[in-house]
Amino acid sequence: MPSHSSSPKWISSTICGDEKQFVPAPFFRREFWLDRLPSQAALRITALGLYHAKINDHVVGDRALAPGWTDYRVRVPLQSYDVSSLLKPGKNVIGVILGDGWYCGRVGWFDRQRYGEKPELLARLEMEFPDATRVQIATDGSWKTTSGPILENDLLMGEIHDARKELTGWTTPGYDDSAWTPAQEGPDRDVILDTIDYPGVRRTAEIIPTPLDGGRYDMGQNFSGRIRIQVTAPRDTALTFRFAETLDPDGSLYTENLRSARATDTYICKGGGEETWEPLFTFHGFRYVEVDGLPADARLNITGLVLQSDTPPTGEFSCSHPLLNQLQHNITWGQRSNFLEAPTDCPQRDERLGWTGDAQVFIRTAAFNMNVRRFFHKWVQDIRDAQRASGGVPEIIPCPRPWDNEDGGPAWSDATIICPWTVYLCYGDTQILSDHYDSMRRYLEFIGREATIGLIRAHPDSKVYRGFGDWLALDGSGKLEGATPKDLIGTAFYAYDACLMAKIAAVLGKPDEARAYTELHAGIVKAFQRRFVTQDGLIDSGTQTAYTLALHFDLIPENVRAAAARALVQDIRQRDYHIATGFVGTPYILDVLTRAGYLDIAYRLLEQETFPSWLFPVKNGATTIWERWDGWTPERGFQDKGMNSFNHYAYGAVGDWMYRHLAGLELDEDAPGYRHIIFQPKPGGSITWASARLETAQGMAGISWKISGGTLEVELTIPENARGTFVPPAGFPQPSFPAFGPGTHVLRLQSE
Ligand code: BGC
Repeated sequence: MPSHSSSPKWISSTICGDEKQFVPAPFFRREFWLDRLPSQAALRITALGLYHAKINDHVVGDRALAPGWTDYRVRVPLQSYDVSSLLKPGKNVIGVILGDGWYCGRVGWFDRQRYGEKPELLARLEMEFPDATRVQIATDGSWKTTSGPILENDLLMGEIHDARKELTGWTTPGYDDSAWTPAQEGPDRDVILDTIDYPGVRRTAEIIPTPLDGGRYDMGQNFSGRIRIQVTAPRDTALTFRFAETLDPDGSLYTENLRSARATDTYICKGGGEETWEPLFTFHGFRYVEVDGLPADARLNITGLVLQSDTPPTGEFSCSHPLLNQLQHNITWGQRSNFLEAPTDCPQRDERLGWTGDAQVFIRTAAFNMNVRRFFHKWVQDIRDAQRASGGVPEIIPCPRPWDNEDGGPAWSDATIICPWTVYLCYGDTQILSDHYDSMRRYLEFIGREATIGLIRAHPDSKVYRGFGDWLALDGSGKLEGATPKDLIGTAFYAYDACLMAKIAAVLGKPDEARAYTELHAGIVKAFQRRFVTQDGLIDSGTQTAYTLALHFDLIPENVRAAAARALVQDIRQRDYHIATGFVGTPYILDVLTRAGYLDIAYRLLEQETFPSWLFPVKNGATTIWERWDGWTPERGFQDKGMNSFNHYAYGAVGDWMYRHLAGLELDEDAPGYRHIIFQPKPGGSITWASARLETAQGMAGISWKISGGTLEVELTIPENARGTFVPPAGFPQPSFPAFGPGTHVLRLQSE
């Protein structure tokens, strides 16, 4: 029996690349003897980099890309697996392969080695025997290491696997490892080993592609993941797999928008029968695959494997408009593709970063489609880990070196407050508010101290970063940042932050602080009005986003709200019912129109099929949400290859409007987590029926409605522990009993 060992050491191989140079993935193994079976056995394991662990030839757990992505200077997730069923009396072996991952592989457009030089492993197998004795096997210099078939591995570049170099039997006991060398013990590290079980990345679907000409395959869906291959080909056959989101008009793969992400996997066959392979330490954002190097008489099967963080589906939306149903599909797949360890902007090019702005605009929609509560618990912790001593928060989280911005700017770093608040609203989760209250408070103080002049945020004279404006708005400015002034956006979000902090302080039972935030909010609103709003309720820049923010955040004096809304509608009409908002205005514009009594205009925007619009990409075959309204147009072809993702969820932020207003399933801020559900369907446009279901913290909630010839039929589902209130659409009478308890309720209303 092994003896009780001390705490595990970080171990690594001596092989080390550099900022450009990739090196083979290190393999580690440790044999041990058990003369009886333990009653309990847990493998507690983490890595700086990625680990793939096996015990006696069985893979441990079903996570991919474990342990995940955090700021490894601060925190490393430590995972625990029950492995009792994998052990046996006699000789046993633990084997682990390490990948570069985010730790020392490429992140964003930066070179390798953002956090460290080479991957390291920390693990301990903890066993307890029936007589209560405990035994541990921990990583230390007695583990042995070598390199094997994985010649290169990188999240962005891909993986190269030379099957001829496979170490057959290396995770079975008794394998001859005499040529392996002792692992190198590293120093202890001053990082938090976080044992919270955050959602892991898992394979959530398999896709069988359609073969096309020229060695190409179409998965039929843009997604994040990788492929598994089964191949029968002669030894030494080198197969190269390239990945792309879309095709050029000539049918070849369009890869220019991947920038420096090589997104190429290579497999070199060992020969002698069917070989099965799936890369371990990479993923791609793709719909199409092209294989090169396949001999004519070889056999190849390809399966697409969808990877995403474990965020179980919770919502379903459908309606009578097929293109809107496809839009909903695209939103969901944008989410599946980009909720992978962090809410990333896109999964394909050399970026894939946790842009705070994108996450903030989309979180409400995300919380309909999937259960993202624990996913955001993790990411909000990442925000905290990145928060600077000053209280400032950078624009990408986790924040890889050398990124060091103090302030991510308006609508981006405000995710610090908006995301925890949204998790609270959607799940009734006060924990996230109390855990991060101090961080939110420090953030808001930082904004007030460093990023504002007077109460105007992002004033041109302010020292700190002024953000990305209304990113990618097609508002005629010709600028990526759109025409909405940055100080207007900044001040609007400063007001919103203060308003949310007042609510958060109240929820947490801090009335004095709530009062102080309310006062701060009132001051910012006044400053906003003085600077940006005329006495007639007009805003100088006149953009759709300017009016949308001002109206949505209640920054326009009540007596001129109607005038401001009219000005917004006038702009929409002038553009022949097209949207001109960027990332910042898009999530709210339909809400604002709805609230101001312009439901008809909201529907015209939603059902618009020519660009800029949500349905333009849908009409053009999109299976996910595009980064840009004009990512591809028949006249111009592809947008600038330097920034043109076809899988960016941000504009999918319209999704929550479809659930909340079109279908009519809304929460009540005073009874968060859907303890009180407000059913307020808003038929309009060409829609004749709609249905939304949501697995809430209380259980399944749902509404479906159908309208024909002045009759509205509605079915409501209210879960246990919840109640519902029905608010009829305009033109229909209020039912005599609008309040409902748990169960299913059917209503039939005749228009007045
Ligand atoms: C990303 C965006 C992000 C933006 C900041 C882009 O490169 O893809 O989604 O929010 O930069 O402006």
